[in-house]
Amino acid sequence: MNSTQYMTGFGNAFASEAIAGALPVGRNSPQQVAFGLYAEQLSGTAFTAPRGQNRRSWLYRIRPAAMHGGFALFEQAPDFHNGFGQGPVSPDQLRWSPLPLPEAPTDFVEGLLTMAGNGAAEAQHGVGIHLYAANRDMAGRWFYDADAELLIVPQLGRLRLATEFGVIELEPQQVAVIPRGVRFAVTLPDGQARGYVCENFGAPLHLPELGPIGSNGLANPRDFETPVAAYEDIEGDFELIAKFQGHLWRAPIGHSPLDVVAWHGNGAPYRYDLRRFNAIGSISFDHPDPSIFTVLTSPSDTPGTANLDFVIFPPRWLVAQDTFRPPWFHRNVASEFMGLVHGAYDAKAEGFAPGGASLHNGMTGHGPDAATFEKASHADLSKPDVITDTMAFMFETRAVLRPTRQAMEAAHRQRDYQQCWAGLKRNFQPPG
Ligand SMILES: [Fe+2]
Repeated sequence: MNSTQYMTGFGNAFASEAIAGALPVGRNSPQQVAFGLYAEQLSGTAFTAPRGQNRRSWLYRIRPAAMHGGFALFEQAPDFHNGFGQGPVSPDQLRWSPLPLPEAPTDFVEGLLTMAGNGAAEAQHGVGIHLYAANRDMAGRWFYDADAELLIVPQLGRLRLATEFGVIELEPQQVAVIPRGVRFAVTLPDGQARGYVCENFGAPLHLPELGPIGSNGLANPRDFETPVAAYEDIEGDFELIAKFQGHLWRAPIGHSPLDVVAWHGNGAPYRYDLRRFNAIGSISFDHPDPSIFTVLTSPSDTPGTANLDFVIFPPRWLVAQDTFRPPWFHRNVASEFMGLVHGAYDAKAEGFAPGGASLHNGMTGHGPDAATFEKASHADLSKPDVITDTMAFMFETRAVLRPTRQAMEAAHRQRDYQQCWAGLKRNFQPPG
């Protein structure tokens, strides 16, 4: 699987074949597929979902996905789960330093650490939020997540995602989305890697509406890249790992499941370079809501209320006048899990490092720390300010995120995080 070519566009009706003539023309399931391949459909939405939301692909492969041994529980990734807890959820502001890189050999799946989540795979709504830190390739092992679409946000080190649909190369400041059920293996070109993964149990991510912004801006459809078909034809004593209903399972498999020679459809993995995001903001005064920075959204059943918004804070100019330019203090009905991929974040002077994370749940007050407040309150607004060397992001979701016990008890949790606001002075001076 050496091809790393891409087709561009978001959710297009793509068609790709690694061997010319492998893809049936004018039909999906001919009586005999070319070259002795099997036809198989992978649906990503209900069969009868409206046309604009319907996702499915047809795969033409050496062996059907049904061919593997029986599943047994997989015990080698105990920190990757959907056990978000049942008890009280602390309304504290929470923050973590970067997850340390592993010392023992650890692949991408083994290196996943669940931080928080809401909803449930079985209910098909909510999210699971995880960190990963890995130092070895997945070799002879493939993974699929039956519970969720996966949004992968690397922070350190490149990833090579070999999928049933082709190969995605990914580096920090790019993101990839792997649809529910798609089998893949992760290798590490730099020998180690760290980042964030959001499991989306709800409706597949799509581009947000643009409303009065018009027909261009934010993440433009042409910048999304889907790999061309590529396959591997190997046999051996291999392992297929499945995440199903919050638990991990393993089954023996005698061949690579990445044996799809040709495919067509609109449900496929893709990548996007966050540096191509066309940020739009205020050119007069005031700070717009961060929804202006939405890259992708998973809608809920309530219009305008997302199961998941993936929002970024990219390099941009700040020009607003008579305005506190960083994000103001706020409390939101939504819950926000933030990460930092690159550089520094403009609302925190220190403590929020690349690879770190924060969680501000619904109605929990947060905002700039004391140092940032002082600086921004007295900044010279006669000049524009440019924020460079930054790429923060947010997994924002409608329901409260339950931090896992392992996240609350983690050594890399900053237990003094609330102190960043302790230095905010009482400035009130009533008249008289
Ligand atoms: Fe916030």
